[in-house]
Amino acid sequence: MSKPTFYITTPIYYPSGTWHLGTCYTTVICDAIARFKRKMGYDVFYLTGTDEHGLKIEQKAKEAGVTPKEYVDKKVADLQSLWARLKISYDRFIRTTDPYHEAAVQKIFDKLYAQGDIYKGEYEGYYCVPCETYWTKTQLVNGKCPDCGRDVSIAKESCYFFRLSKYQDRLINLLEENDEFLLPKPRRREMINNFLKPGLSDLAVTRSSFTWGVPVSFDPKHVVYVWIDALVNYITALGYGSDDDSLFKKFWPADIHMMGKEIVRFHSIIWPALLMALDLPLPKKVYGHGWLLMGADKISKSKGNIVDPVELSDRYSVDAVRYFLLREIPFGSDGAYTTRAFLSRINADLANDLGNLVKRTVAMVNKYEGGKVPTWSGKLQNTDEEIISLFKQTLPAVQKNMDELFVPEALEAIFTLIRRANKYIDENAPWILAKSEDTKERLSDVLYVLLEVIRASGVLIEPFLPDTSEKILSSFEGLSEEEKSFESLFEFGGLKAKKVIERDALFMRVDVEKEIAEMEQKIEENKKQEAEAPETETKPEITIDDFAKVELRVGKVLQAEKMPKTEKLLVMQVEIGKETRQIVSGIAKYYSPEEMVGKQVVVVYNLAPHSFRGVESQGMLLCADDGKGGVVLVSPEKIVDSGSEVR
Ligand code: MSP
Repeated sequence: MSKPTFYITTPIYYPSGTWHLGTCYTTVICDAIARFKRKMGYDVFYLTGTDEHGLKIEQKAKEAGVTPKEYVDKKVADLQSLWARLKISYDRFIRTTDPYHEAAVQKIFDKLYAQGDIYKGEYEGYYCVPCETYWTKTQLVNGKCPDCGRDVSIAKESCYFFRLSKYQDRLINLLEENDEFLLPKPRRREMINNFLKPGLSDLAVTRSSFTWGVPVSFDPKHVVYVWIDALVNYITALGYGSDDDSLFKKFWPADIHMMGKEIVRFHSIIWPALLMALDLPLPKKVYGHGWLLMGADKISKSKGNIVDPVELSDRYSVDAVRYFLLREIPFGSDGAYTTRAFLSRINADLANDLGNLVKRTVAMVNKYEGGKVPTWSGKLQNTDEEIISLFKQTLPAVQKNMDELFVPEALEAIFTLIRRANKYIDENAPWILAKSEDTKERLSDVLYVLLEVIRASGVLIEPFLPDTSEKILSSFEGLSEEEKSFESLFEFGGLKAKKVIERDALFMRVDVEKEIAEMEQKIEENKKQEAEAPETETKPEITIDDFAKVELRVGKVLQAEKMPKTEKLLVMQVEIGKETRQIVSGIAKYYSPEEMVGKQVVVVYNLAPHSFRGVESQGMLLCADDGKGGVVLVSPEKIVDSGSEVR
């Protein structure tokens, strides 16, 4: 009988930044799920890769004085070595520069164009000939070029559009009627209310202002929009659009597309719409997990709060890093990295609970049984019944949690058994049983029970901590494949190996305070390198009447685009109650236009209009300094009506 299949994907990574602990989150989670499913007997396909096209990469390569391909080749090699170090067991690593992918992107584009889902349109704008710049109507100042003040002409640039609007109703139905499609649940409402209900516009799916992308086959001046190029990787990796689509037939539709919450919009709106247009089945589940934060910030290179996974794994082991990522953060929510939380997990769970159980038990088997696995009489006492019943419940509990994507809870189920075994040692005190011949049989039984729990822990922990699993299981001489299988864990007593071998401690306890001082100093150094925070001056006191003069209101960003020829400015159309205002804000380095759309913001509403490089701003967005030279937006803690007053 053929095995059931399971197809899981991470997003494909931008090979542009520095890899940090947050970057590893999606990949490590997917790895644990993929390994777990393999152990459950599934034929698993785990896909990850890199998203290599687009203007950003083109610019970065230029800055580095290399070609875009040279630039990404180096970055991709670094990423692959990080995944190797973290024991990521992917089945395929797709690069969007792989020729088979590029060819399939062109085919998909051709097909959608041929059937009318992609059409050529006009991106209409105002053109200033001397400045060679396009402007939108709202950017013009008194109808003239905001840069040079001269007359502008209406100009049109051709561009291809995807008929996203056509799929609006089907997408609303999908999200409203299929409880399983987008998880965790709150993300579904967010998509429906913030993006689908307000109405979808057709999507510009080509760019002609740069060349680093997949050219449209029949109009090569245009390159395919990176998000289209990137999303279709989930099917091109399986051979869709190539001569051999056997993997596609076998694995599609995906069982889980896993990703961070900031890119759920692309996966739960644009991606299903593309699949609908291609008349292909939709993925079974899109899961948007939370972020790993440092303090309140998302860990990221651009914020300088980088935590280096290579440094951490060198110092404390790969499994310590994996364990923290898998165990610490309630899955679906944001969670914080702190050095203390990380080290406490190592000490409490890995060194104390797991490490001690193995060390103490193997030492006792060596001492009292000469290293032989004792035979089990099968005579049960109270504490045996309890631990054996927990033993039998553990795999089903892990399985249930993994099926529901409660990854920390799955690990917790394993550690409940481990902790119960430590308690069992104390309850049965083998060192006392060893004192009399009369309790010799009982001593053997107790040690067998402990070894059986250790075997089970070694087998169960493999998807999460593969190195540790190997080490634990290597404490038994000649363990068979059967004894390493999940099937052997439904009943107690599967341990058949004859001897134990004493190994090095699984995890060393760490001196938390000393380590914190060193690690925090490193993080601080990273932060300093990123930005020398400017001193903040205290302004003179004001009265409440002074403050009452400022009118603050909640707005919702409807559209956002970068102001041409600037690095810093975003031009946004912000809905405030019934009106829409144009607001220019210097946040382009910290927020992309795509990230801003749909966000609720706080606007200084009665600020006199102000012009930035000739573009009028009717208000100002509130932001907080992040202490590292950057800013974070101030947003209401819950969604409120746009136009609401902020007091
Ligand atoms: N290239 C796009 C995805 C295209 S998929 C068709 C992209 N790449 S990314 O490199 O920015 O992100 C890759 C993954 O890393 C995402 O799931 C993202 O959420 C995750 N993370 C990056 N920083 C993170 C944290 N600090 N915390 C948790 N995950 C975060 O988006």
